[in-house]
Amino acid sequence: MSSIVTPEFTRGLPKAELHLHIKGTLEPELKLKLAKRNNVDIGQETIEDVQKTYDYHDLASFLAVYYPAMNVLQTEEDFYDLAWAYLTKAAANNVRHVEIFFDPQAHTSRGIPFETVINGLYRATVDARALNVDAHLIMCFLRDFSKESARLTLQEGLKYRDKIIGVGLDSDEHNNPPLKFARQFEDAAAAGLHLTTHCDIDQKDSIEHIRQALEIMEVERLDHGTNIVEDPDLVELVAKRQIGLTSCPLSNGFVSPEMKGEEIISLLKAGAKISINSDDPAYFKGYISDNYYALAQKYQLSQEQIVQLAKNSFESSWISQKQKELYLAEIDSYVAKFSK
Ligand code: HPA
Ligand code: ZN
Repeated sequence: MSSIVTPEFTRGLPKAELHLHIKGTLEPELKLKLAKRNNVDIGQETIEDVQKTYDYHDLASFLAVYYPAMNVLQTEEDFYDLAWAYLTKAAANNVRHVEIFFDPQAHTSRGIPFETVINGLYRATVDARALNVDAHLIMCFLRDFSKESARLTLQEGLKYRDKIIGVGLDSDEHNNPPLKFARQFEDAAAAGLHLTTHCDIDQKDSIEHIRQALEIMEVERLDHGTNIVEDPDLVELVAKRQIGLTSCPLSNGFVSPEMKGEEIISLLKAGAKISINSDDPAYFKGYISDNYYALAQKYQLSQEQIVQLAKNSFESSWISQKQKELYLAEIDSYVAKFSK
């Protein structure tokens, strides 16, 4: 295997994307188009105006820019268009399987019906089969909202049980530990849903949150979660249980001083199922292949390491063992062809 990782290699490599917020894929062009279509004044008229607001250095300052933009999403068609735009990019990046986060409360809290959101997004995931992308939805609770709001959201979500594969937690982690939602996670698991949670980068209680998620809530994946390197026992636990860690290098570089490449490499070496993802690509300047390439370039990753990260993405995805093996074989034949 050649050891040079090129942008072409990372783009064509078959991969799964497991950490992608659909509203984080809202590109300035679509934002302006939807604002016009729905007569919503966002105070921005040009792409430059929109980009000027993209000023953040940590999770809280990012979320402060991110949420107000949601106002442009009003109708089922808007949600469809948003998801479709992402899915066409996913196809161009050879994302073969994607598990997409959506946050119903970011929309129901401003008067948009749950069904408008899910029907638009779900229809795009069905249409994505024509793009050769297998797409699914993970419903996230906003962790800075109340437990009661999460309970009502789960109740509503379960009416669409067949359109959702799992639940997660996102938004502001500060003083919002995973355990706050233990009851909702238990109920979701009882309904057969998969479990994941954000354990964001460099939080006040990162290790305690990771511990709760793994030891008490028994999640199957951690979104981000790279602070786990601070606790070797927990690293051993995720490697042993084959818990997925969904890392997002470009996003890391925006909310912290670096991409966390050292942590990613160390987890890879420890045998943890760490994968590479794009988080909020419209805001963090890059889709999934850009994340693979930026990491490879900055930290001199070998082709073998990049391939292992892609294999981890399928191995930690919520698909059957048989399906996993098919995707892993696709990677092997891609690499064989590429190295010829
Ligand atoms: N963390 C928490 N909330 C988020 C994120 C994230 O990485 N991206 C979008 N909402
Ligand atoms: Zn995220």
